[in-house]
Amino acid sequence: MITIKSPEEIALMAESGRLTKEVLEVMEKSVKAGMTTKQLDKIAYDYIKSCGAYPSFLGYSGYPASTCISVNEMVVHGIPSDDIVIREGDIVSVDVGVVYNGWQGDAARTFLIGQVSEEKRKLVDVTRECFFKAVEDLKVGTPLGDIGFKVQSHAEANGFSVVRALVGHGIGREMHEDPSVPNFGKKGTGIRLKSGMVIAIEPMINAGTYQVEFLPDGWGVRTKDGKPSAHYENTVAITDEGVKILTL
Ligand code: MF3
Ligand code: CO
Repeated sequence: MITIKSPEEIALMAESGRLTKEVLEVMEKSVKAGMTTKQLDKIAYDYIKSCGAYPSFLGYSGYPASTCISVNEMVVHGIPSDDIVIREGDIVSVDVGVVYNGWQGDAARTFLIGQVSEEKRKLVDVTRECFFKAVEDLKVGTPLGDIGFKVQSHAEANGFSVVRALVGHGIGREMHEDPSVPNFGKKGTGIRLKSGMVIAIEPMINAGTYQVEFLPDGWGVRTKDGKPSAHYENTVAITDEGVKILTL
């Protein structure tokens, strides 16, 4: 079911969104080569708790951490671990969700650690650009398929591929609401966006094949060919005054 949010509810979601963005900023400042992904997750947990909010991933379907941290060929849902050390040259995708006053925020960034290869740098840039292409002329009445079309066109024009196995989603009191928001598709297809809809748009872009495989831990998703992958996500409200990006 797609839920429509009132302007007052969108204002509350903007608060959750702001905290989500702040967590990512704190993580970006803290991340360094030599640190484990578990240490980085702890920083997010502590910051979220200090704000009087709750990390929405923790305990979600049994998920054991506050963030997903996915290094290099990991696409998404990397479980933070004492055994995963971040190194110079890595790209590190961090996905975080916050619930505050009952409303969810969800966002992801991919950080570059020190000097990274030209391919990785371009992949991270193009993944972020895919998001901004998708929201460029987004407004009430835009067909949902236009989002996927724009993400896919930009990724593929740059020689990269779009993950199909995971998609963006509606968001509100629940982290995952309808509709699904694929990063691939045809212009002019799908439902039309209505005022008061809030969606998480989250391109997951691979340097090589779009195909992915799931780790035995039941969460982690990695590229099938071992080439790098990047992720960029924001929570976006559709309003009569235009699009509001709540996690920027
Ligand atoms: N943030 C992810 C998404 O965008 C969900 C994370 S799954 C969790 O859909 F289990 F970690 F919460
Ligand atoms: Co999401």
